[in-house]
Amino acid sequence: MENDLQNLEAEIGSALAAVADTPALEAVRIKYFAKSGLITSLMEKVGQAPKEQRPVLGKQVNEFKGRVNAAFEEKKSALESKAEAAGVDETLPGRPVPAGSLHPIYAARDRAIAIFRRLGFSLAEGPDVETEHYNFDALNTPADHPARNEGDTFYLADQSLRLAADGDRDRRGRLLLRTQTSPVQIRVLEKATPPVRIIAPGRCYRRDEIDATHGIAFHQMEGLVVAEGVSLAEMKGTMELFFRELLGHDLKFRFRPHFFPFTEPSFEVDASRPGNLVKGKEWLEICGCGMVHPKVLQNAGIDPEKYTGFAFGFGIERIAMMLHHVNDLRLFTEGDARFLRQLSPAV
Ligand code: DAH
Repeated sequence: MENDLQNLEAEIGSALAAVADTPALEAVRIKYFAKSGLITSLMEKVGQAPKEQRPVLGKQVNEFKGRVNAAFEEKKSALESKAEAAGVDETLPGRPVPAGSLHPIYAARDRAIAIFRRLGFSLAEGPDVETEHYNFDALNTPADHPARNEGDTFYLADQSLRLAADGDRDRRGRLLLRTQTSPVQIRVLEKATPPVRIIAPGRCYRRDEIDATHGIAFHQMEGLVVAEGVSLAEMKGTMELFFRELLGHDLKFRFRPHFFPFTEPSFEVDASRPGNLVKGKEWLEICGCGMVHPKVLQNAGIDPEKYTGFAFGFGIERIAMMLHHVNDLRLFTEGDARFLRQLSPAV
Protein backbone atom coordinates (compact mmCIF):
# COMPACT_ATOMS: atom_id res chain seq x y z
CA MET A 1 0.00 0.00 0.00
CA GLU A 2 2.75 2.37 0.96
CA ASN A 3 4.46 1.56 -2.31
CA ASP A 4 1.30 2.30 -4.20
CA LEU A 5 1.14 5.71 -2.57
CA GLN A 6 4.73 6.50 -3.38
CA ASN A 7 4.38 5.39 -6.96
CA LEU A 8 1.22 7.39 -7.48
CA GLU A 9 2.75 10.48 -5.89
CA ALA A 10 5.77 10.22 -8.19
CA GLU A 11 3.50 9.73 -11.17
CA ILE A 12 1.38 12.76 -10.30
CA GLY A 13 4.54 14.76 -9.71
CA SER A 14 5.88 14.12 -13.18
CA ALA A 15 2.43 14.56 -14.79
CA LEU A 16 2.17 18.02 -13.18
CA ALA A 17 5.71 18.89 -14.17
CA ALA A 18 4.85 18.17 -17.80
CA VAL A 19 1.76 20.42 -17.75
CA ALA A 20 2.21 23.52 -19.92
CA ASP A 21 -1.32 24.88 -20.29
CA THR A 22 -4.81 24.80 -18.82
CA PRO A 23 -6.15 21.93 -20.95
CA ALA A 24 -3.20 19.76 -19.90
CA LEU A 25 -3.83 20.62 -16.26
CA GLU A 26 -7.46 19.69 -16.70
CA ALA A 27 -6.44 16.31 -18.12
CA VAL A 28 -4.30 15.67 -15.02
CA ARG A 29 -7.18 16.69 -12.78
CA ILE A 30 -9.55 14.28 -14.48
CA LYS A 31 -7.09 11.38 -14.43
CA TYR A 32 -6.08 11.66 -10.77
CA PHE A 33 -8.14 14.13 -8.75
CA ALA A 34 -11.70 13.75 -10.03
CA LYS A 35 -14.31 11.55 -8.34
CA SER A 36 -13.57 8.64 -10.64
CA GLY A 37 -9.81 9.34 -10.68
CA LEU A 38 -6.92 7.21 -9.46
CA ILE A 39 -6.73 8.87 -6.01
CA THR A 40 -10.32 7.90 -5.24
CA SER A 41 -9.70 4.30 -6.23
CA LEU A 42 -6.70 4.21 -3.92
CA MET A 43 -8.90 5.52 -1.10
CA GLU A 44 -11.29 2.66 -1.73
CA LYS A 45 -8.43 0.22 -1.18
CA VAL A 46 -7.84 1.75 2.28
CA GLY A 47 -11.42 0.91 3.17
CA GLN A 48 -10.80 -2.71 2.27
CA ALA A 49 -7.59 -3.06 4.38
CA PRO A 50 -7.67 -5.10 7.63
CA LYS A 51 -9.13 -3.09 10.55
CA GLU A 52 -5.89 -2.82 12.55
CA GLN A 53 -3.98 -1.29 9.61
CA ARG A 54 -6.54 1.31 8.77
CA PRO A 55 -5.55 4.08 11.25
CA VAL A 56 -1.92 4.08 10.02
CA LEU A 57 -2.91 3.80 6.41
CA GLY A 58 -5.50 6.52 6.79
CA LYS A 59 -2.90 8.90 8.15
CA GLN A 60 -0.52 8.12 5.29
CA VAL A 61 -3.23 8.60 2.73
CA ASN A 62 -4.31 11.91 4.25
CA GLU A 63 -0.77 13.22 4.18
CA PHE A 64 -0.40 11.98 0.62
CA LYS A 65 -3.58 13.77 -0.41
CA GLY A 66 -2.41 16.94 1.29
CA ARG A 67 0.81 16.92 -0.68
CA VAL A 68 -0.60 16.10 -4.10
CA ASN A 69 -3.47 18.59 -3.70
CA ALA A 70 -0.98 21.28 -2.79
CA ALA A 71 1.14 20.39 -5.80
CA PHE A 72 -1.91 20.61 -8.02
CA GLU A 73 -2.96 24.01 -6.63
CA GLU A 74 0.57 25.33 -7.00
CA LYS A 75 0.66 24.33 -10.66
CA LYS A 76 -2.75 25.88 -11.22
CA SER A 77 -1.83 29.25 -9.78
CA ALA A 78 1.49 29.21 -11.62
CA LEU A 79 -0.41 28.77 -14.89
CA GLU A 80 -2.89 31.50 -13.99
CA SER A 81 -0.25 34.06 -13.19
CA LYS A 82 1.60 33.17 -16.39
CA ALA A 83 -1.57 33.73 -18.43
CA GLU A 84 -2.29 36.99 -16.58
CA ALA A 85 1.22 38.24 -17.24
CA ALA A 86 0.71 37.52 -20.94
CA GLY A 87 -2.69 39.23 -20.89
CA VAL A 88 -4.36 36.03 -22.03
CA ASP A 89 -7.63 34.70 -20.76
CA GLU A 90 -7.37 31.04 -21.60
CA THR A 91 -11.00 30.44 -20.80
CA LEU A 92 -12.17 32.54 -23.77
CA PRO A 93 -13.09 30.64 -26.94
CA GLY A 94 -10.53 30.93 -29.76
CA ARG A 95 -10.88 33.27 -32.71
CA PRO A 96 -11.69 31.39 -35.91
CA VAL A 97 -8.95 31.61 -38.56
CA PRO A 98 -10.54 31.70 -42.02
CA ALA A 99 -8.92 29.06 -44.20
CA GLY A 100 -7.98 30.22 -47.68
CA SER A 101 -8.57 28.20 -50.81
CA LEU A 102 -7.37 28.13 -54.37
CA HIS A 103 -9.11 30.58 -56.70
CA PRO A 104 -11.35 28.67 -59.17
CA ILE A 105 -9.26 29.86 -62.13
CA TYR A 106 -6.14 28.41 -60.55
CA ALA A 107 -7.98 25.25 -59.50
CA ALA A 108 -9.02 24.80 -63.16
CA ARG A 109 -5.43 25.43 -64.25
CA ASP A 110 -4.21 22.75 -61.83
CA ARG A 111 -6.71 20.21 -63.10
CA ALA A 112 -5.44 20.81 -66.62
CA ILE A 113 -1.80 20.58 -65.48
CA ALA A 114 -2.49 17.26 -63.73
CA ILE A 115 -3.89 15.75 -66.94
CA PHE A 116 -0.99 16.96 -69.07
CA ARG A 117 1.51 15.65 -66.55
CA ARG A 118 0.02 12.18 -67.00
CA LEU A 119 0.56 12.62 -70.74
CA GLY A 120 4.25 13.32 -70.15
CA PHE A 121 4.24 17.14 -70.43
CA SER A 122 6.37 19.26 -68.17
CA LEU A 123 5.83 22.86 -67.08
CA ALA A 124 7.49 25.88 -68.67
CA GLU A 125 7.04 29.59 -68.09
CA GLY A 126 7.87 32.96 -69.53
CA PRO A 127 7.59 36.58 -68.38
CA ASP A 128 4.37 38.64 -68.48
CA VAL A 129 6.37 41.60 -69.81
CA GLU A 130 7.59 40.47 -73.20
CA THR A 131 9.27 41.92 -76.25
CA GLU A 132 7.69 42.32 -79.65
CA HIS A 133 10.24 39.80 -80.82
CA TYR A 134 8.99 36.93 -78.66
CA ASN A 135 5.32 37.86 -78.67
CA PHE A 136 5.04 38.50 -82.43
CA ASP A 137 8.10 38.38 -84.72
CA ALA A 138 9.56 35.04 -83.69
CA LEU A 139 6.04 33.64 -83.94
CA ASN A 140 5.93 34.60 -87.61
CA THR A 141 3.47 37.45 -87.06
CA PRO A 142 3.88 40.09 -89.82
CA ALA A 143 4.58 43.69 -88.88
CA ASP A 144 1.16 44.80 -90.11
CA HIS A 145 -0.83 42.18 -88.20
CA PRO A 146 -3.82 43.87 -86.51
CA ALA A 147 -3.09 42.29 -83.12
CA ARG A 148 0.05 44.45 -82.95
CA ASN A 149 -1.93 47.71 -82.92
CA GLU A 150 -1.70 49.90 -79.87
CA GLY A 151 -5.46 49.55 -79.70
CA ASP A 152 -5.15 45.82 -79.12
CA THR A 153 -1.91 45.38 -77.22
CA PHE A 154 -0.58 47.10 -74.11
CA TYR A 155 2.85 48.56 -74.87
CA LEU A 156 4.79 49.69 -71.84
CA ALA A 157 4.92 53.46 -71.37
CA ASP A 158 8.35 53.05 -69.80
CA GLN A 159 10.46 51.30 -72.42
CA SER A 160 13.58 51.63 -70.29
CA LEU A 161 12.47 48.85 -67.96
CA ARG A 162 15.03 46.07 -67.75
CA LEU A 163 13.83 42.52 -68.28
CA ALA A 164 14.70 39.74 -65.92
CA ALA A 165 17.69 37.52 -66.65
CA ASP A 166 18.54 36.76 -70.24
CA GLY A 167 15.46 38.42 -71.72
CA ASP A 168 17.28 41.72 -71.60
CA ARG A 169 20.43 40.63 -73.34
CA ASP A 170 18.99 40.09 -76.77
CA ARG A 171 16.11 42.48 -76.48
CA ARG A 172 14.45 43.10 -79.82
CA GLY A 173 11.40 45.25 -80.37
CA ARG A 174 9.30 47.22 -77.94
CA LEU A 175 8.26 46.00 -74.49
CA LEU A 176 4.65 44.92 -74.11
CA LEU A 177 2.38 42.84 -71.90
CA ARG A 178 2.19 39.48 -73.63
CA THR A 179 -1.07 38.95 -75.48
CA GLN A 180 -0.74 35.17 -75.47
CA THR A 181 1.34 32.43 -73.87
CA SER A 182 2.75 31.48 -77.29
CA PRO A 183 6.07 33.40 -76.78
CA VAL A 184 6.98 30.69 -74.27
CA GLN A 185 7.23 28.34 -77.28
CA ILE A 186 10.18 30.35 -78.57
CA ARG A 187 11.84 30.75 -75.18
CA VAL A 188 11.69 26.99 -74.64
CA LEU A 189 12.85 26.04 -78.13
CA GLU A 190 15.81 28.42 -77.96
CA LYS A 191 17.15 26.54 -74.95
CA ALA A 192 16.06 22.96 -75.46
CA THR A 193 17.02 20.24 -77.88
CA PRO A 194 13.99 18.24 -79.03
CA PRO A 195 12.16 16.17 -77.96
CA VAL A 196 10.23 18.99 -76.27
CA ARG A 197 6.90 18.35 -74.58
CA ILE A 198 5.76 21.29 -72.46
CA ILE A 199 2.75 23.22 -71.28
CA ALA A 200 2.99 26.86 -70.20
CA PRO A 201 0.11 28.29 -68.22
CA GLY A 202 0.15 32.00 -67.51
CA ARG A 203 -1.45 35.40 -67.52
CA CYS A 204 -2.04 37.38 -70.72
CA TYR A 205 -3.25 40.90 -71.46
CA ARG A 206 -5.25 42.51 -74.24
CA ARG A 207 -6.90 45.86 -74.77
CA ASP A 208 -10.35 44.34 -75.12
CA GLU A 209 -13.74 45.75 -74.25
CA ILE A 210 -14.60 44.10 -70.93
CA ASP A 211 -17.77 42.00 -71.10
CA ALA A 212 -19.09 38.62 -69.94
CA THR A 213 -16.52 36.70 -71.99
CA HIS A 214 -13.61 39.16 -72.31
CA GLY A 215 -11.27 40.63 -69.74
CA ILE A 216 -8.12 42.70 -70.18
CA ALA A 217 -6.13 40.26 -68.07
CA PHE A 218 -6.82 36.56 -68.40
CA HIS A 219 -5.11 33.18 -68.35
CA GLN A 220 -4.06 30.87 -71.12
CA MET A 221 -2.39 27.52 -71.32
CA GLU A 222 0.06 26.93 -74.12
CA GLY A 223 1.24 23.52 -75.24
CA LEU A 224 4.16 22.54 -77.45
CA VAL A 225 5.42 19.19 -78.69
CA VAL A 226 8.45 19.10 -80.97
CA ALA A 227 10.30 15.92 -81.90
CA GLU A 228 11.16 13.80 -84.93
CA GLY A 229 8.10 12.56 -86.75
CA VAL A 230 5.36 14.30 -84.74
CA SER A 231 2.15 14.06 -86.71
CA LEU A 232 -1.18 15.82 -86.96
CA ALA A 233 -2.80 12.60 -85.75
CA GLU A 234 -0.86 12.88 -82.49
CA MET A 235 -2.05 16.47 -82.10
CA LYS A 236 -5.67 15.49 -82.66
CA GLY A 237 -5.42 12.53 -80.28
CA THR A 238 -3.74 14.61 -77.57
CA MET A 239 -6.35 17.36 -77.79
CA GLU A 240 -9.27 14.94 -77.69
CA LEU A 241 -7.87 12.95 -74.81
CA PHE A 242 -7.10 16.03 -72.77
CA PHE A 243 -10.48 17.70 -73.20
CA ARG A 244 -12.37 14.45 -72.60
CA GLU A 245 -10.47 13.94 -69.34
CA LEU A 246 -11.19 17.51 -68.30
CA LEU A 247 -14.77 18.06 -69.42
CA GLY A 248 -16.34 14.65 -69.92
CA HIS A 249 -15.89 11.49 -71.92
CA ASP A 250 -19.00 12.13 -73.98
CA LEU A 251 -17.40 15.15 -75.68
CA LYS A 252 -17.54 15.39 -79.48
CA PHE A 253 -15.05 17.46 -81.49
CA ARG A 254 -14.85 19.48 -84.65
CA PHE A 255 -11.43 20.55 -85.95
CA ARG A 256 -12.18 23.64 -88.03
CA PRO A 257 -9.45 24.93 -90.37
CA HIS A 258 -8.31 28.35 -89.17
CA PHE A 259 -5.36 30.70 -89.42
CA PHE A 260 -2.63 31.37 -86.89
CA PRO A 261 0.68 32.82 -88.08
CA PHE A 262 2.74 30.35 -86.04
CA THR A 263 1.09 27.11 -87.16
CA GLU A 264 0.41 25.52 -90.54
CA PRO A 265 -2.08 23.99 -90.89
CA SER A 266 -4.04 25.64 -88.07
CA PHE A 267 -7.32 24.67 -86.46
CA GLU A 268 -9.86 25.84 -84.03
CA VAL A 269 -11.29 23.06 -81.91
CA ASP A 270 -15.00 23.11 -81.17
CA ALA A 271 -16.51 20.79 -78.59
CA SER A 272 -20.05 19.69 -78.05
CA ARG A 273 -21.71 17.48 -75.56
CA PRO A 274 -25.20 16.17 -74.89
CA GLY A 275 -26.95 18.76 -72.72
CA ASN A 276 -24.48 21.43 -73.95
CA LEU A 277 -21.34 22.81 -72.30
CA VAL A 278 -22.84 26.27 -72.12
CA LYS A 279 -26.54 26.96 -72.16
CA GLY A 280 -28.03 27.47 -75.59
CA LYS A 281 -24.84 26.70 -77.55
CA GLU A 282 -24.34 23.37 -79.19
CA TRP A 283 -20.74 23.88 -80.32
CA LEU A 284 -18.24 25.80 -78.25
CA GLU A 285 -14.85 26.96 -79.40
CA ILE A 286 -12.37 25.69 -76.81
CA CYS A 287 -8.88 25.72 -78.26
CA GLY A 288 -6.56 26.83 -81.05
CA CYS A 289 -3.93 24.46 -82.38
CA GLY A 290 -1.86 23.44 -85.36
CA MET A 291 1.42 22.06 -86.65
CA VAL A 292 4.30 24.36 -85.70
CA HIS A 293 5.23 26.56 -88.68
CA PRO A 294 8.72 25.71 -90.04
CA LYS A 295 9.63 29.41 -89.76
CA VAL A 296 8.88 29.34 -86.03
CA LEU A 297 11.22 26.39 -85.56
CA GLN A 298 13.84 28.17 -87.63
CA ASN A 299 13.44 31.41 -85.64
CA ALA A 300 14.22 29.46 -82.48
CA GLY A 301 17.23 27.68 -84.01
CA ILE A 302 15.57 24.29 -84.60
CA ASP A 303 16.02 22.45 -87.91
CA PRO A 304 12.57 22.13 -89.52
CA GLU A 305 13.86 19.44 -91.89
CA LYS A 306 14.61 17.20 -88.94
CA TYR A 307 11.88 18.08 -86.49
CA THR A 308 8.12 18.66 -86.62
CA GLY A 309 5.70 19.55 -83.88
CA PHE A 310 2.32 20.75 -82.83
CA ALA A 311 1.20 23.57 -80.56
CA PHE A 312 -2.02 24.56 -78.91
CA GLY A 313 -3.41 27.31 -76.72
CA PHE A 314 -6.62 27.79 -74.80
CA GLY A 315 -8.16 30.15 -72.26
CA ILE A 316 -8.30 28.93 -68.68
CA GLU A 317 -11.22 31.23 -67.76
CA ARG A 318 -13.25 29.59 -70.48
CA ILE A 319 -12.47 26.16 -68.98
CA ALA A 320 -13.43 27.30 -65.48
CA MET A 321 -16.68 28.72 -66.86
CA MET A 322 -17.51 25.35 -68.42
CA LEU A 323 -16.49 23.36 -65.34
CA HIS A 324 -18.67 25.44 -63.04
CA HIS A 325 -21.44 26.53 -65.42
CA VAL A 326 -20.60 30.18 -64.88
CA ASN A 327 -21.80 32.47 -67.66
CA ASP A 328 -20.01 35.70 -66.77
CA LEU A 329 -16.24 35.85 -66.50
CA ARG A 330 -16.35 39.00 -64.39
CA LEU A 331 -17.71 37.02 -61.43
CA PHE A 332 -14.28 35.41 -61.04
CA THR A 333 -12.52 38.70 -60.38
CA GLU A 334 -15.10 40.67 -58.43
CA GLY A 335 -13.86 39.06 -55.23
CA ASP A 336 -17.26 38.17 -53.81
CA ALA A 337 -16.34 35.48 -51.29
CA ARG A 338 -19.87 34.03 -51.38
CA PHE A 339 -19.40 33.23 -55.06
CA LEU A 340 -15.81 32.00 -54.79
CA ARG A 341 -16.53 29.81 -51.78
CA GLN A 342 -19.08 27.82 -53.76
CA LEU A 343 -16.54 26.98 -56.46
CA SER A 344 -13.43 26.21 -54.45
CA PRO A 345 -13.85 24.43 -51.16
CA ALA A 346 -11.37 25.46 -48.47
CA VAL A 347 -8.06 23.63 -48.70
N1 DAH B 1 -2.04 32.13 -79.15
C1 DAH B 1 -3.38 31.85 -79.68
C2 DAH B 1 -4.35 32.93 -79.16
O1 DAH B 1 -4.06 33.58 -78.22
C3 DAH B 1 -3.84 30.50 -79.28
C4 DAH B 1 -3.10 29.44 -80.00
C5 DAH B 1 -3.55 28.98 -81.20
C6 DAH B 1 -1.94 28.92 -79.48
C7 DAH B 1 -2.89 28.00 -81.90
C8 DAH B 1 -1.23 27.94 -80.19
C9 DAH B 1 -1.74 27.49 -81.41
O2 DAH B 1 -0.11 27.41 -79.73
O3 DAH B 1 -1.07 26.52 -82.05
O4 DAH B 1 -5.39 33.06 -79.71
